[in-house]
Amino acid sequence: MKKYYNDKEYMDIVSNILNNNEFKKLETYMHHGDNRMDHCVRVSYYSYLIAKKLNLHYKDVARAGLLHDFFFVNNQELDFVTRTKVLFNHPKIALKNAMNIYELSLLEQNIIESHMFPIGLTLPRYKESWLVNLVDDYYSIYERVISITKSIKEFISKSRIKKRVYAFLNK
Ligand SMILES: [Fe+2]
Ligand SMILES: [Fe+2]
Repeated sequence: MKKYYNDKEYMDIVSNILNNNEFKKLETYMHHGDNRMDHCVRVSYYSYLIAKKLNLHYKDVARAGLLHDFFFVNNQELDFVTRTKVLFNHPKIALKNAMNIYELSLLEQNIIESHMFPIGLTLPRYKESWLVNLVDDYYSIYERVISITKSIKEFISKSRIKKRVYAFLNK
């Protein structure tokens, strides 16, 4: 995932967002078992690469991809009802937070607002919006699988250590 740092064109497009202190706070929020900033960078960078190949508006895709989950709620701390509300309304909150800092094109606004479609009910009106929506879905599943796999591995290795300790003590 560090590859994006070496992509000068990408960095020129998004560095003002990546260096923003408000945006950097996303690093302290959990998201799909990872942190929210890494998730946003992943969605932004891979959407940007695909958008370039498809001759789409890749600059808007890179910026809006980065800002698509620009909200400050720790889902783990919420009860089920509030978490469900956040699931539905966080695209609107992310858009509002982003527009407090940046001037966004209509395309960028729609990318952010529709990234959870059909959840959230805002229709993706551009190819770029569909692209970020799909890349976000892909990485949401990918990050969850990585996180679950990591937990299982940790559990297994802890069990193995326990067994070895017991075996050693019972010799
Ligand atoms: Fe989201
Ligand atoms: Fe997301």
